[in-house]
Amino acid sequence: MWKSFLTAAAVTTAVIAVPVGYRVMSRPLVQPAPLNRVDVAEGHTLFKHEWKKNDPLSSTGDGLGPVFNADSCVACHKQGGIGGGGGVEHNVTTFATRAFVGKEAKFRSGVLHANAISPEFQENLSHVDPTLGTGCRPTLEQVNRMVKQNGFLDRGLEISQRQTPALFGSGLIDAIPDDVIIQQERAQSARHGLLPGGSETIPVGRIARNGGKIGRFGWKGQTDSLLTFVENACANELGLSNPGAPQPISMAKADYKGKGFDLTRKQCEQISAFCAALPAPKERLPEDPAERQQAVHGKAMFEKVGCTSCHVANMGSVQGIYSDLLLHRMGIELVGGNSGYIPSPELPDDPSTPFPDEWRTPPLWGVADSGPYMHDGRAKTLDEAIHLHRGQGANAAANYQQLSGSDRDALIAFLRTLKAPAE
Ligand code: HEC
Ligand code: HEC
Repeated sequence: MWKSFLTAAAVTTAVIAVPVGYRVMSRPLVQPAPLNRVDVAEGHTLFKHEWKKNDPLSSTGDGLGPVFNADSCVACHKQGGIGGGGGVEHNVTTFATRAFVGKEAKFRSGVLHANAISPEFQENLSHVDPTLGTGCRPTLEQVNRMVKQNGFLDRGLEISQRQTPALFGSGLIDAIPDDVIIQQERAQSARHGLLPGGSETIPVGRIARNGGKIGRFGWKGQTDSLLTFVENACANELGLSNPGAPQPISMAKADYKGKGFDLTRKQCEQISAFCAALPAPKERLPEDPAERQQAVHGKAMFEKVGCTSCHVANMGSVQGIYSDLLLHRMGIELVGGNSGYIPSPELPDDPSTPFPDEWRTPPLWGVADSGPYMHDGRAKTLDEAIHLHRGQGANAAANYQQLSGSDRDALIAFLRTLKAPAE
């Protein structure tokens, strides 16, 4: 599979889509575990807290750093209210490298942290690869220009950015039973003549499997549970070590001695409880009758052109999520790795890692308040985001482009009804 990706010219023959009858199984109800109010309130405080080096809130640790991307969760997660998405100015730069030692491939991947507690710990691009220069905080444009000019994949190098998604409704996503996601994967495969996920052109998604776990959080669906994501975010974004995740070691100066944990497991659970308690976004139709009618028509267009083959309205009993939580191949323009594996003609295929152009269908709930769009925020408008759909999303995007101007406007008007929850 990988090899056909590497030779970008190779076009997989489209398998004729044969609709196969499949039985809709009973859908288990999503019942998030009840949240303790005190935990949610403590989590709220921790989510907003501006961390400092040797922060008094971290009882046994060293507080912020040594490397970090921002000093609080809310610095990035704030659009449309606390817990929302963030702009490209807070994008996280990720990288992966592959080097051969004899015949053995060595992989390295991680985050280029934007900040450090003192200059000797400051990471820069040369720590990823000496040819990249010494910039510490490359902008999205700089990263995408570097990738375009150098075609890094062949050289065993990947660099890309991730923008901050909104966390509204993440408790519901956390509680979706694995079975619902498995059924969704099977249904898509059955609809297209039992084609497995990983096709380059047909909208068949596949589960992001991480060991035996079913991924659902992150742009690559890399993480299976909210708590695990929170533990990793504490460590990777703020440098707060905790029992679930160690704080990152600076690529600039590795001999840093941390102290104890910055956060206890209980505190991580409280931050996770706060995220889980954030209400889900709601579809809010305009009051004005003409605008309302336009949005309703736009919703029909959204279905008609095939957006709902991936942006599925309901997952189990979670209504209005507009995602199948599966990975889809979105075409060579949307390559962006950090899966810790970079293919090479010398290596066997590794089907357990996502293709570089594979992304989890982002839930569209709240999309009216989470711009810019796509994994790195390269699309400034919703219209641009749709235009960027290639690979498995190419047909839907082409159908959208063939709509009349007023039908396209209606579809966008529908997306604008998907708002962040009011505070
Ligand atoms: C520097 C900006 C930044 C900071 C600070 C930050 N995040 Fe994030 N957050 C991101 C980005 C970027 C992603 C997407 C990462 C990915 O998909 O690989 C993300 C994703 C998440 C997700 C997964 C959401 C989903 O649906 O996939 C959770 C949960 C989360 N962050 C929680 C937190 C918590 C809790 C904190 C504070 C400890 C935090 N974040 C701090 C940028 C940030
Ligand atoms: C093959 C599955 C698939 C189909 C079909 C599809 N999408 Fe997507 N969509 C995705 C994936 C995957 C992404 C994320 C890509 C990325 O981040 O690079 C995405 C991203 C988006 C985004 C940006 C969301 C954000 O939070 O940044 C919007 C808006 C969107 N799609 C709307 C649509 C519309 C409208 C249609 C129909 C014309 C459509 N999509 C069809 C899979 C699909």
